[in-house]
Amino acid sequence: EKGGYDHFMLKEIHEQPKAITDTYRGRLLRNEAIIKMAGVEDNMKKFLNANRIIIVACGTSWHAGLVAEYIFEDLARIPVEVEYASEFRYRNPVITENDIVIAISQSGETADTLAAIKLAKSKGAFVFGVCNVVGSSIAREADAGAYTHAGPEIGVASTKAFTTQITILTLIALRLARAKGTISSSDFRHYLLELEMIPGKVEKALQADAHIKMIADIYKDSRNCLYLGRGYNFPVALEGALKLKEISYIHAEGYPAAEMKHGPIALIDENMPIVVIATKKGHYDKVVSNIQEIKARKGKIIAIVTEGDEQVRELADHVIEVPETMEALSPLITTIPLQLLSYHIAVLLGKNVDQPRNLAKSVTVE
Ligand code: F6R
Repeated sequence: EKGGYDHFMLKEIHEQPKAITDTYRGRLLRNEAIIKMAGVEDNMKKFLNANRIIIVACGTSWHAGLVAEYIFEDLARIPVEVEYASEFRYRNPVITENDIVIAISQSGETADTLAAIKLAKSKGAFVFGVCNVVGSSIAREADAGAYTHAGPEIGVASTKAFTTQITILTLIALRLARAKGTISSSDFRHYLLELEMIPGKVEKALQADAHIKMIADIYKDSRNCLYLGRGYNFPVALEGALKLKEISYIHAEGYPAAEMKHGPIALIDENMPIVVIATKKGHYDKVVSNIQEIKARKGKIIAIVTEGDEQVRELADHVIEVPETMEALSPLITTIPLQLLSYHIAVLLGKNVDQPRNLAKSVTVE
């Protein structure tokens, strides 16, 4: 049942090239240069007239929502707010009939997310669900939606659900950008081409497995770990930290790299590993100077870099290379080594990676 892998989590990490392909199959039609999704087409007027999009989710799905915020604003020029479902539902939020609420949930059963969309519906908002489990409560409660088609996710730590959520949200953003005319037809085609290359690049990123295991062995006894990223890769830093803490029980925090100097920099000494996403596109020079600041304080740097990078390699204690892609698509690639790093640390520590203590796969109580 684990397909030859030691754990479901590792199996699901390795399933991502296929899961991402399954997510865009039949939706991304590159030869015709179109993206087609029934749930979006049928409600195009609502999407185009929306004042804003409010994304509600919890945990890893909330991180996918944060990535989507960058993509929707960047490509489709629609204002986006991303909310923890649990905070949103109890805040007496301002919601109108011109708002679109996108609920993201792997299980489709998360109690807070379900309650948040019920509230949004009662205020007249249009609710769009992004779920993995077909026929789940959130999928049924939403006015429309799109499934991720990632296949069953058994490991409690969410992996392929995250990358497929980002994939589907990217497709939606691109479709709306095309309809609104906020993207040129040549840029649109470029995205479609690059999206189709993502599964192959994820496959390539997975090949760093043995190297990542070696790094995991060096840092497995750390008490704390920081994850830094900027722009599209800031939410990836949050997700990397969540993956580490939930399965290895090592305290980890994700931060936007530039926020470091506003507090977390005080934590840095020779015992602090810091995972920095430092890929070429997107604020590279700024991240390099963040890395220099960390080095000056003797922090240990594990950097996720673009293949062939030389500048960060000189500064970092370890580099993990990933294939290059467009900045907006980079979270689909940079997430992979962070999943593997937390997996190997947890396994080396003898933790139950598929069923970490105190956690349930779907949180059906608030
Ligand atoms: C993290 C994790 C949780 C879930 C969260 C939301 O690895 O699994 O943080 O992401 O409980 O679950 P869904 O997406 O099912 O609503």
